[in-house]
Amino acid sequence: MEELASFSSQALVEIKGISKSFNNIKVLNNIDLTVNKGEFFSLLGPSGCGKTTLLRIIAGFEIPDSGKVIIDGIDYTDVPPYKRPVNMVFQNYALFPHLNVFENIAFGLRYQNLGKIEIRRRVFEALELVQLVGFENRKPSELSGGQKQRVALARALVLKPKVLLLDEPLNALDPKLRKEMQIELKKLQHEVKVTFIFVTHDQEEALSISDRIAVINRGEIEQVGTGYEIFEKPRTEFVANFMGARNLFTGVLHRLDKHMVEIELPNLVRFKVFNNKNLKLNSGEFKFVVRPEKIFIRKTPVKNQAFVSIPAIVESKLYYGASTRWILKANGFSIFVEEQNRGIKLKNEFSPGEEVYAVWEKRNMVFLEA
Ligand SMILES: Nc1ncnc2c1ncn2[C@@H]1O[C@H](COP(=O)(O)OP(=O)(O)OP(=O)(O)O)[C@@H](O)[C@H]1O
Ligand SMILES: [Mg+2]
Repeated sequence: MEELASFSSQALVEIKGISKSFNNIKVLNNIDLTVNKGEFFSLLGPSGCGKTTLLRIIAGFEIPDSGKVIIDGIDYTDVPPYKRPVNMVFQNYALFPHLNVFENIAFGLRYQNLGKIEIRRRVFEALELVQLVGFENRKPSELSGGQKQRVALARALVLKPKVLLLDEPLNALDPKLRKEMQIELKKLQHEVKVTFIFVTHDQEEALSISDRIAVINRGEIEQVGTGYEIFEKPRTEFVANFMGARNLFTGVLHRLDKHMVEIELPNLVRFKVFNNKNLKLNSGEFKFVVRPEKIFIRKTPVKNQAFVSIPAIVESKLYYGASTRWILKANGFSIFVEEQNRGIKLKNEFSPGEEVYAVWEKRNMVFLEA
């Protein structure tokens, strides 16, 4: 039960109606967000969407035009950075090049009226946490990228902040090391039980590391949820697209009765689905997505009522080792299909130009908000 108790639903950071403009250009627009105690929370969005600006506002390096930053019930909106129970780790590490690892980590502690022995104890505790005992006398220039990142983490955590803000801290690492550090970071967060707000523009990183994710688009929050919710149940076209859903269809809805609607993809197919709460429309155009890995290719249509089959032509095939990706054309429309290669033999071999069917299960269609 320990695992489950690691974060509560108790609000720690509350962002209320934050807006910010630079040179009359709105960078953040009325952001509302609650991060809970002990959570690993990620801000995910494309370059320039306002992630860093939001972090800097939480840290106090930037003053919002309007709105409030509340941490643990206290309004910190007008409090300077060094008086906030918050610390930040930067993408470029920002270590002091002339100080060794020990002094880099001890830096913030020197302002806290602590005795020499206590500082030493706290620095070594932090070194142990990031597995760098033995490196205390090295200069930053004598460390690898991953080691520098760990020093930066230790330097931030040694001050025991309530919230640690991490701005794309793994960006400078090569892909393999980055994956290792993701696992380490998650473990570290679990150990220290500090609330993390982590910025990334990497979808997979956000999914694998976070308890919850906020997807940001042009200074606005599009959706907040667990990785599963963001990935499988995107609410908007932007989130669906950003998470790689790719197959976006515009359908026409015809209401049949209280329980059933008919969906038409003009010139392709008409099929019935149960009317559910996601289909508030009575009739008219609407959009839905089907993820590439939820579409498969067949030589004949699937007769089962639970499935939709669309006639299509194979356009191209890309072999990725673990998966094969196909592009089909259906009435001028591209359909992306991703198939896991589970066995050594490729079970479905289709050739460009071949007439096939793109098939998906109706329950894998995700209806988007208008
Ligand atoms: N000090 C500033 N003065 C003027 N414009 C700024 C300033 N800081 C940020 N901006 C602008 O605000 C927008 C959001 O920037 P921000 O750095 O928050 O984006 P980001 O989501 O962190 O992007 P990235 O993923 O590239 O780091 C950008 O258009 C940026 O050019
Ligand atoms: Mg940024």
